[in-house]
Amino acid sequence: KKSRMVLEPEFQIAEVDNRIYGSFIEHLGRAVYEGIYEPDHPLANEDGFRMDVVELVKELQVPIVRYPGGNFVSGYNWEDGVGPKEVRKRRLELAWRTIETNQVGTNEFADWAKLVNSEVMMAVNLGTRGVDAARNLVEYCNHPSGTYWSDLRVSHGYREPHKIKTWCLGNEMDGPWQIGHKTADEYGRVALEAAKVMKWVDPSIDLVLCGSSGTQMPTFPQWEATVLDHAYDHVDYISLHRYYGNRDGDTANFLASSLDMEQFIHTVVSTCDYIKAKKRSNKTVNLSFDEWNVWFHSNEADTKIEPWSIAPPQLEDIYTMEDALVVGSMLITLLKHADRVKIACLAQLVNVIAPIMTTAGGGAWKQTIYYPYLHASRYGRGRVLNPLISSPKYDSKDFTDVPVLDSTAVFNEEKQELTIFAVNRDMVDALQLECDVRSFDGYQVVEHIVLEHEDIKARNTHDEPNRVVPHNRGSAKANDGSLECVLPKLSWNVIRLR
Ligand code: AHR
Repeated sequence: KKSRMVLEPEFQIAEVDNRIYGSFIEHLGRAVYEGIYEPDHPLANEDGFRMDVVELVKELQVPIVRYPGGNFVSGYNWEDGVGPKEVRKRRLELAWRTIETNQVGTNEFADWAKLVNSEVMMAVNLGTRGVDAARNLVEYCNHPSGTYWSDLRVSHGYREPHKIKTWCLGNEMDGPWQIGHKTADEYGRVALEAAKVMKWVDPSIDLVLCGSSGTQMPTFPQWEATVLDHAYDHVDYISLHRYYGNRDGDTANFLASSLDMEQFIHTVVSTCDYIKAKKRSNKTVNLSFDEWNVWFHSNEADTKIEPWSIAPPQLEDIYTMEDALVVGSMLITLLKHADRVKIACLAQLVNVIAPIMTTAGGGAWKQTIYYPYLHASRYGRGRVLNPLISSPKYDSKDFTDVPVLDSTAVFNEEKQELTIFAVNRDMVDALQLECDVRSFDGYQVVEHIVLEHEDIKARNTHDEPNRVVPHNRGSAKANDGSLECVLPKLSWNVIRLR
């Protein structure tokens, strides 16, 4: 099979906002406890953070990490997580039916984020709490000193404010599973009032309004229209969340999941712009795709977890080669929409539906999905190009005209480097790719990285952490303005030219 692509540096979508390579740490399962924080671990630093995990996160170059939830935030009293650790309250955590010890809270997480060179994206509780707790938290985190909440932070040992720039106005407030679930009008009103006072405390912050928890929600996309109608003038982004899974064992259909993601983005962009027009506004609200991933392997196991345990192994999906391809396609989709998607968070980062896994007291290892995320984050910075692609297509259960080649390219002017990301969705055949790069005069292939495995269900595990790892023996060659290569069947490819 053959495909073709034309790349022109003048044909651009937008400059990548590096925050699209963000991720997420929730107080859920073993993400915090036994994940990033394990004071008894031999590799823990003096604050209890696992340095092996820090190193793996740093390798990923994660620019922003959403915290502390997720569903967790909608029942969270942030005050429980600050001050002396020995007097912090243990609480029943209703979102995930566990006990929260509060040994990690706002200040510890800000410390950890510094260790991994990330910014914090902080969520406030608009489930059980509201305007008052939200503005107090902004004051605690961002006000220099001289007021009750800022001085409380100083008394907790943090003289300098955390200067947290990006804030989420609650989490998945459209979902009946959410603690304090609201109708669109109820949420729109409280989000607007919280947004106003949070910005009055610190006008430099950016706010993310809750959009829908997925395209499958019955209230989507009217939810977006209603909440934006309330809060448009006071927010900067609207959130999107979406997870995919191969529950029916239909690989061809699963591999096409990003077509749904693409449609989701189009609909939310259109809804934002409809409200913009309705309000005769000059402001554009952009998108924060702040939860995305594959999530389904652990669903069954999670129904068997004993309630009210501390940091049980929840949502511990062990990812396959096939999942890595879907994650690769989702990254390509985010890049293709770099003009409007300015923040995105792979949900999540450690142990919970995560690229990084840990063993208590033992090692940390990389899941299959670690690699596409790593490659996109490292090489996908610059300007996204708008390639002309012709590819064979197929139909699957839920999608028609699925391109076998899913691809995009990023040009980094500073480094004079062009990177092509490509997934071959074909389950049987390799795909030939011929790419017209005549405008990139003299560019040569630096490397062609490939992630592939003869068993599409192959996984990495604690005992066998290197079963699925990338190699750089891809066949790409550039000659006279033309690049030619073969993309193996069911493969993720990164072709770097300079
Ligand atoms: O990331 C896991 C959960 O998925 C989050 O807590 C919630 O926001 C979403 O439903």
